[in-house]
Amino acid sequence: MDTSFTLTVNGQRHTVATDSQRSLLHVLREDLHLTGTKAGCGEGQCGACTVLMDGKREHACLLPARDAAGKSITTIEGLNTAGKLHPVQEAFLAEGAMQCGYCTPGMILSTVALLREKPAPNDAEILSWMDAQVCRCCGYPRILSAVRRAVAEAKR
Ligand code: FES
Ligand code: FES
Repeated sequence: MDTSFTLTVNGQRHTVATDSQRSLLHVLREDLHLTGTKAGCGEGQCGACTVLMDGKREHACLLPARDAAGKSITTIEGLNTAGKLHPVQEAFLAEGAMQCGYCTPGMILSTVALLREKPAPNDAEILSWMDAQVCRCCGYPRILSAVRRAVAEAKR
């Protein structure tokens, strides 16, 4: 049976009606048409579906949508400000850190979450944190360069 609740996505309030089993990933992509959040493994293993919930990294594929009731969700579509890319997006662009780009929204949001939790992570902390994100194109060297660049920019 569908239940109705309200959540905020990228600063906009939405009321959705959905059954208790549906994931936030499906609500974002199918109901709100925010397809920047990608569907990968569906099992919490790849990080393609990463979003921020109240600023913290979450796998939208594992999160029942109703658990986002009253919360603030950020997807890749909401990361820019007034048309200006987020510094982490700029870092990924500067390093050319994408091939097919499927993993990129999750990589970028995960990096944003890292910088919120640890404003100046060392290399081991970066590697450990990004271990949760999979790139099926194996573009890891450039992705790590982008994360390191974002960290360096954040320290300025
Ligand atoms: S699709 Fe959610 S972690 Fe892979
Ligand atoms: S760039 Fe293709 S999955 Fe990472």
